[in-house]
Amino acid sequence: MPPIDAYAVFGSPIKHSKSPVIHSMFAEQTGQQMQYDKQDVPAEQFKAAISQFFAQGGRGVNCTVPLKELAFQRADTLTPRAQKSKAVNTLAMQSDGLLLGDNTDGVGLVTDLKNNNVTLSGKKVLILGAGGASRGILLPLQAENVTSITIANRTVNKAERLADEFKASGSTSGCGFNDLNDQQFNIILNATSASLSGDLPPLPPHLLANDGVCYDLAYGNEDTPFVTWGYQQNAQKSLDGLGMLVEQAAAAFFIWRGVQPDTAPVITALKS
Ligand code: ATR
Repeated sequence: MPPIDAYAVFGSPIKHSKSPVIHSMFAEQTGQQMQYDKQDVPAEQFKAAISQFFAQGGRGVNCTVPLKELAFQRADTLTPRAQKSKAVNTLAMQSDGLLLGDNTDGVGLVTDLKNNNVTLSGKKVLILGAGGASRGILLPLQAENVTSITIANRTVNKAERLADEFKASGSTSGCGFNDLNDQQFNIILNATSASLSGDLPPLPPHLLANDGVCYDLAYGNEDTPFVTWGYQQNAQKSLDGLGMLVEQAAAAFFIWRGVQPDTAPVITALKS
């Protein structure tokens, strides 16, 4: 019998990653013979761990914090969206021996928003944060014909620089949190890492338009501070990033296996 196709998620910390559970549900559902493990890989061990994994016949790796920029550098070829986001969350060994790098985070977010009946077209979008998570979602959001994207960040010049990089593909501007007074947005996305430490970026009142939607790219067993803030602002919906996690995994699964899994039962299972 040929060896089973091996996949893994690399990152540090990795103990609480849900990716192995998600991919094993996808594999079972679609009848794919594969194995998917998690591996604690700090940044300084990334190069060696990747070489070893693929030398042993590994087929694909997901990369999470703090490895997405390193994976971007390691890939032999890149999809346009990975190129633009300068971050890779999915590595796939191709038949020509070249390692393809892609970034499925943005498409994961957009798909989850659509699953939740959130319309992006014609909407004013605010992204909180100007780090790697923001960079990964900008292009897929612009592709949905949003009216404008404002990036607000604690370190203002990072937001301005990021907006400059993306303004050729859609109306995009950068500012600080203080500059948000008297502005309103239809959709507010939290892409800061503040939730991870139980914090909330400083946000003025009346920031969310009537029937607006809040979405935290982070998720937890309980509502994140930003999801709670969304409810307090009377958001029509205030969602966390669990759906995005499953959708980015489904997009990676498709790159590797050529099969589209059904995400809805997986999201339901993880929520319970
Ligand atoms: P990631 O790859 O998850 O985006 P990152 O590149 O370190 O991580 O970026 C983290 C983002 O969260 C940054 O925009 C950071 O703001 P600064 O650029 O000013 O550092 C933002 N951030 C982190 N903690 C925050 C907090 N408590 N309040 C507001 N913004 C915060």
